Amino acid sequence: MFNLERFDIKLNTEFIGRNFVYTEEIDSTNTYLLNKSNKLSYDGTVLLAEKQNKGKGRKDRVWYSTKDQNLTFSILLNNKKYLGKNLNLINFASSLAVAVSIENLYQLKTDLKWPNDVLVNGKKISGILFESTSQGNKIDRLVIGIGINVNQTIFQGNYKIAPTSIKLELKEQVDRERLLAELLNNFEEILQKLNTEPDEILKDWKLRCRLIGEKISISEGDDIKYGIFDDLDSEGFLLLKNKGRIEIIHFGDVSIV
Ligand code: BTN
Repeated sequence: MFNLERFDIKLNTEFIGRNFVYTEEIDSTNTYLLNKSNKLSYDGTVLLAEKQNKGKGRKDRVWYSTKDQNLTFSILLNNKKYLGKNLNLINFASSLAVAVSIENLYQLKTDLKWPNDVLVNGKKISGILFESTSQGNKIDRLVIGIGINVNQTIFQGNYKIAPTSIKLELKEQVDRERLLAELLNNFEEILQKLNTEPDEILKDWKLRCRLIGEKISISEGDDIKYGIFDDLDSEGFLLLKNKGRIEIIHFGDVSIV
């Protein structure tokens, strides 16, 4: 069971996680927070579930996570301050916060895979699902769903990228409360840079992305594109170079070729 007191002692934020909701079981923390009728509306609300019955991954995949072992939670942002022009960078702020927290607490080297997977030793340790609702043409709720494999050691099923967990890499049981508090502390700190130093977020993200400069393929449905991962643009979209031409890629799964 998640120890709320231990988590709270380590939480050092102003607003992220100050409204903290814990539940044993839910369909999906993302789906719940996206639904306005559930009345969870404080900016920075964090909803943590020990088990999700319909945990969602990117591209309609399923996110599997064993009960009580990992961290599966969502963060709600609804302050206009964050929902403007740099909104896409919150994707990068989130995966960067996960990576920095794993590095700080466990000295594991992380690798960031565009757009927002976190890998350790080439295996996926965390995934992020970014979802939003809008009113008119304005986004009014942004939900950042984060799944981290923490203490799970057995993974069954088919995965696009082989999974791992912090425990498997560290060979030690991990304190989930401390990790979540560290992550939310880091996330809030990185988020503060969104409107003042957005380039810093991308710079720190790119430092951990080892695919830049490599030959890659990007698949989106049946469509596969090849080229060199040239860079990210100022919004975090991928610049793919092919025969001297640069194409801006908004979505897709990147693989090295
Ligand atoms: C991916 O890598 O495909 C994204 C996985 C995101 C999983 C998290 S777990 C908490 C939140 N609730 C969900 O239903 N999904 C996200």
